[in-house]
Amino acid sequence: MTAPLTAPPRFYLLVGIPGSGKTTYARRHLADALRVSLDDVRLMLTGVAFDPAFEPYVVAAAHAALGALLRRAARWRRDVVLDATNITRQRRRYYLAIAARRAIPTVAVYLRCPLDVALVRNRQRSPAVPDDVVCRFHAALEPPTLDEGFAAIYEVVTARTSA
Ligand SMILES: Nc1ncnc2c1ncn2[C@@H]1O[C@H](COP(=O)(O)OP(=O)(O)OP(=O)(O)O)[C@@H](O)[C@H]1O
Ligand SMILES: [Mg+2]
Repeated sequence: MTAPLTAPPRFYLLVGIPGSGKTTYARRHLADALRVSLDDVRLMLTGVAFDPAFEPYVVAAAHAALGALLRRAARWRRDVVLDATNITRQRRRYYLAIAARRAIPTVAVYLRCPLDVALVRNRQRSPAVPDDVVCRFHAALEPPTLDEGFAAIYEVVTARTSA
């Protein structure tokens, strides 16, 4: 990978189970990036946190927004971040491809978080994602690897703070 990572545009692809801290990380550390959040799109379109019947529309709208931003990111010199779980290689392949088409390097930001920590954090939120859904995401998680085409992988490790 020869594209420099020192200047925008870069495409940050967050990877992590619900409650792993993706949104918090993006707000803190990628504050200048244009953030496309699947959760925000869900709320925008439906007014509720999650309704499976609307998922196709949510994904379509998020992909449209992402495509529009990546198309102009170089001209604007703006980074773009996708705030979604992106736990499988299959899901990430699509995003890597659309960024590659624009010659934008993709950086995976992997929020590596113990399941029990994510469950506790998640239960403190309203509305919480059901525990079994968080567990299912954890079981299906495929950590990102460089061979997928990432220019870099940042691993953010959440440690347990209590025994
Ligand atoms: N580094 C951290 N230290 C302590 N608490 C954190 C940290 N990061 C996130 N949290 C807390 O954990 C909870 C979940 O964080 P966040 O909403 O960022 O997760 P998420 O990965 O975006 O979840 P989702 O996939 O459901 O959107 C929040 O209540 C947040 O305040
Ligand atoms: Mg979030």
